[in-house]
Amino acid sequence: MSALRITRPDDWHLHLRDGAALAAVVGFSAARFARAIVMPNLNPPVTSTPQARAYRERIRACLPAGARFEPLMTLYLTDSTTAAELEAAKASGLIHGIKLYPAGATTHAEAGVTDVRALDERFARMAELGLVLEVHGEVTDPAVDIFEREARFIDTVLGPLIERHPRLRVVFEHITTAAAVQFVRGAREGVAATVTPQHLLLNRNALFAGGIRPHYYCLPVLKAERERRALLEALAAGSPRFFLGTDSAPHARGDKERACGCAGVFSAHAALELYAEAFESIGALPRLEAFAAFHGADFYGLPRNRDAVTLVREPWSVPAQFPYGADTLVPLRAGESVAWRLVSE
Ligand code: DOR
Ligand code: ZN
Repeated sequence: MSALRITRPDDWHLHLRDGAALAAVVGFSAARFARAIVMPNLNPPVTSTPQARAYRERIRACLPAGARFEPLMTLYLTDSTTAAELEAAKASGLIHGIKLYPAGATTHAEAGVTDVRALDERFARMAELGLVLEVHGEVTDPAVDIFEREARFIDTVLGPLIERHPRLRVVFEHITTAAAVQFVRGAREGVAATVTPQHLLLNRNALFAGGIRPHYYCLPVLKAERERRALLEALAAGSPRFFLGTDSAPHARGDKERACGCAGVFSAHAALELYAEAFESIGALPRLEAFAAFHGADFYGLPRNRDAVTLVREPWSVPAQFPYGADTLVPLRAGESVAWRLVSE
């Protein structure tokens, strides 16, 4: 196959940041995706509908001329999120999900949830309102091995949460392990997961190839090869429970390349193209369209897109860096080639 025309996809997990950083990155997503679920982990976080509405306007103001791209907003769940806040979110029509970060789990997760069970009333209200809960699925106990944190979260937090709230719709974000694949496959109706390009294309060796590689550091951290294979096999099987969510998470070069560098991989510049590589690697290109354009829309109860995008099998070189406000941004595959190219229409 040398050309692939598919329904325009959506990105069901994206970090766009704010200000000059937002302006630097949003065009990459708008060139590929019709819509994106926009993560609320700004600093301070987006915890109310007025804040989400204002953030949405800032995103729209940064779009390149002529771009049609719809930001689907989320609220950041905290210990003090009220039922009234959830009701306002639903009534706005702009907010499609509520993001649960265990406190301290990742970038700007300091204001996250300290005790998931304590919020059971709020989860019950979300289920009634039909708001999707988007979950960063890692325990934060520093005594738990970093490669085990996702599996531990399933056993101690996510599994019980899903049982306690049988009607709550849950997206287990950026899954990275065979345990997560198995959990999502076997879970009740209304449970799904997103998968990033980096977790499909790279294993944890990438972090240490010839030296420490901060641009491959994200959370959840890259896992062993057997886990990566399990993700690929899940997508090759075509279950509607798995869909595209890049977790593209830009950080300035200076914030990545230091003694304690930030977590996050930037992939928006080549996201769909990288997924095409991953699907091709297992002979599953015919499955790409549903993963990228159908499963997520169906899960969120939104219409599927009607227009299309075209990819051609023609290698191109990713720049070594992009401008990023006063700093620069090092993208995934910087200075290397990507096998598929998006045809601009
Ligand atoms: O690597 C990550 N970066 N994981 C997250 O969960 C957050 C993200 C960010 O916002 O930078
Ligand atoms: Zn994320």
